Amino acid sequence: MKILVIHGPNLNLLGSRETVVYGKQTLDEINNSLKKLAKELGVELIIQQSNHEGEIVDLIQGTQDYGAILINPAAYTHTSIAIRDAIAATNMPTIEVHLSNIHQREEFRQKSLIAPVALGQISGFGTESYLLGLRAAAHVLKSKTKK
Ligand code: DQA
Repeated sequence: MKILVIHGPNLNLLGSRETVVYGKQTLDEINNSLKKLAKELGVELIIQQSNHEGEIVDLIQGTQDYGAILINPAAYTHTSIAIRDAIAATNMPTIEVHLSNIHQREEFRQKSLIAPVALGQISGFGTESYLLGLRAAAHVLKSKTKK
């Protein structure tokens, strides 16, 4: 029942980065909320942040022992065919999350290259997007193990 959480580029700066858009919570605070919820849901979390596209690809390729991926690909959402292909290749249930509502923002942010290979996308609820995403991932895991 392991879920890999991946935070993409610049998310290490949360708390001070464009707080009007992304809120005042730091990445550590978000991770603590995720860990608390994971305990309640009875799932194990491995949490990683990377500013590097290739590193994120390597993380996704290394998920054979996991049941699901929860990812905020950040700016790579809109540009990374490599991350999209890695998700498609692993065939791992993947939930895409965003703090802001990318569909309400600049045109270049409205397209996600990840969404077509994700199970679903949650966008626009701040930290809650991650928590909703984790609930979705745990739900998928539990229904997989019941079969
Ligand atoms: C983001 C939205 C992206 O467009 C942006 O590049 C980010 C964060 C979000 O969580 O709202 O870095 O993924």
